Amino acid sequence: MCGIFAYLNYQVPRTRKEIFETLVKGLQRLEYRGYDSAGVAVDGPNKTTQDLNNNSICLIKKKGKVKALDEEIYQKDTVDLDETLSTHFGLAHTRWATHGEPSALNSHPHRSDKNNEFVVIHNGIITNYKELKKYLINKGYEFESETDTEVIPKLIKYLYDNQENDSITFSKLVERVIQQLEGAFALVFKSRHYPGEAVSTRRGSPLLIGVRSEHEPPAEHIAVQYNSGHLREEIEEKNSHNSSNSNGEGKAVEYYFASDASAIIEHTNKVLYLEDDDIAVVKGGALSIHRLNRQAGDDPVRAIQTLQMEMQQIMKGNFEAFMQKEIFEQPESVVNTMRGRICFDTNKVILGGLKDHLKEIKRCRRLIMIGCGTSFHAAVATRQILEELTELPVMVELASDFLDRSTPVFRDDVCFFISQSGETADTLMALRYCKERGALTVGITNTVGSSICRETDCGVHINAGPEIGVASTKAYTSQFVSLIMFSLMLSEDRLSLQARRLSIINALKDLPELIRKVLSLDDKIKAIADELYQQRSLLVMGRGYNYATCLEGALKIKEITYMHSEGILAGELKHGPLALIDKDMPVIMILMRDGCYTKCQNALQQVTARSGRPIILCSQDDSEVIKNAYKTIELPETVDCLQGILSVIPLQLLSFHLAVLRGYDVDCPRNLAKSVTVE
Ligand code: G6P
Repeated sequence: MCGIFAYLNYQVPRTRKEIFETLVKGLQRLEYRGYDSAGVAVDGPNKTTQDLNNNSICLIKKKGKVKALDEEIYQKDTVDLDETLSTHFGLAHTRWATHGEPSALNSHPHRSDKNNEFVVIHNGIITNYKELKKYLINKGYEFESETDTEVIPKLIKYLYDNQENDSITFSKLVERVIQQLEGAFALVFKSRHYPGEAVSTRRGSPLLIGVRSEHEPPAEHIAVQYNSGHLREEIEEKNSHNSSNSNGEGKAVEYYFASDASAIIEHTNKVLYLEDDDIAVVKGGALSIHRLNRQAGDDPVRAIQTLQMEMQQIMKGNFEAFMQKEIFEQPESVVNTMRGRICFDTNKVILGGLKDHLKEIKRCRRLIMIGCGTSFHAAVATRQILEELTELPVMVELASDFLDRSTPVFRDDVCFFISQSGETADTLMALRYCKERGALTVGITNTVGSSICRETDCGVHINAGPEIGVASTKAYTSQFVSLIMFSLMLSEDRLSLQARRLSIINALKDLPELIRKVLSLDDKIKAIADELYQQRSLLVMGRGYNYATCLEGALKIKEITYMHSEGILAGELKHGPLALIDKDMPVIMILMRDGCYTKCQNALQQVTARSGRPIILCSQDDSEVIKNAYKTIELPETVDCLQGILSVIPLQLLSFHLAVLRGYDVDCPRNLAKSVTVE
């Protein structure tokens, strides 16, 4: 998904080379989001185009990796790298193609005209771009790319060219632009008419601003300025005389704009998350937030938060890939999910974010669990225990399908939105759909400050730490644990369920140790990968509590190894999949000693009777199963409803090894993005 990074240094001298380095580093931190081209915009006389005006803006764009852009910057002698600029604003962007193929021309920053009067970077989609483009073409504006984004710089130039008098402010222009836009966007603007000034805004796509000041800590809050009509100019007028802004004018300060915190954290931990339709302006080194009108319920201040994220948390450490690191982090990440929430002495489970809504949840008509990809599988994995402990009907829904069906939702429904990123467009749309219908909305997210986090009535942060590999691993097990904790909290006063609750709480206590034991099977799993990596297809079969593992295991395999893989419910074997079985078709079966043991053994018989050679994930020392298996991975046992956490890990590891053996980029699978912010 597109990544935004921009850097403004005010009264902090930096050479143009240093500015490029900061911009490129910012993009590298956003690489995990998935992209196919990249670009930057800086001030400076452009030696190659003979645009030698000091206010001119130079664009460098390149298809491919950030590394290729970095090389382009140094190979092409476009601008003077050694010149020191005490105040400067630079833009950088990674593009994930939606409108138009990946190419330098389609990549961002996009520009208003050949003189680069206005340039912009965008994350999201402009849904009414065709109408706007037609209008602007009629007005004589020439387009050079196939993107939806390009209407934005053209539109701002149109408004600038047609202003009533010559005094329009940059933020006013942006305010007028976004009034014309439909869809989702995070935008950062730069203009040669407003040197050293930055204007950014968002609607539906995330954007945050980091603040760094060597001399004094940034303010804790920034008051929102509501500007309607002429009042707006008055306020700006006042601001320019009397520095009522929280970050005083004239003082040395640096600002970092980014799609997420991983690009900012190495510079500062002081960040401000923009709300939809906020316009953030940095002018004369001072940051201010503007909105058109004040609505009932609006928060009139934006807090500058202190992020707790550590840089090392987002670095790869000694692992070959982020995905591998994240798989091995699971003994700790599940502990972080439970920390402060389960008291193992009193067997109490308290999810602080939900406790005020407990009564309402208990009274509800049903629970609807909504997500996409891996997050959807976390709902499938916990559905049975949620039904058992809450005694409520539980629906699990893929967000896109839920919306396609216009599923009936009622005021007394409780809808869960499960999302690692908290930004997945389909899940977010489903949230808004349920909200409109008056249901209570609950977010289960890993990203503090994300859209889902902010727009739900209440929720749980899974606290798994940043997940960078596109294939989700530790977020899945933490979502799983969070939903288990929810079912435990809801059943606390049900006497008949106490023994069951207790067995689960005890098992959660031992979970990190058991995960470590599973991880110690890595060599054995690698040996299986050595045998399988040249296959074209891989089936994963199981049922009951382990069905979700089959779906999730197959998703991991197809995502990063590009092998065909299918998660099959063993109960459906005779209804089709059995036709696939022969001595050559690799089959992985999950066959644990749980309620489905006998039925799964029947499935095993069906497979072996057709000369299938199953690799079986089974309970430790299960000789009955071991003797019928081609190969086994013996797993430690836990309570049935948590077994899925232990059974998914070998499949995470297997997919990782298969992808490495097949020579693929594990963290950035082709055609996929970490955070899918388009429908
Ligand atoms: C993308 C990612 C998956 C993820 C899914 C849902 O497809 O590649 O790993 O499971 O989105 O993302 P979310 O952030 O909502 O959990």
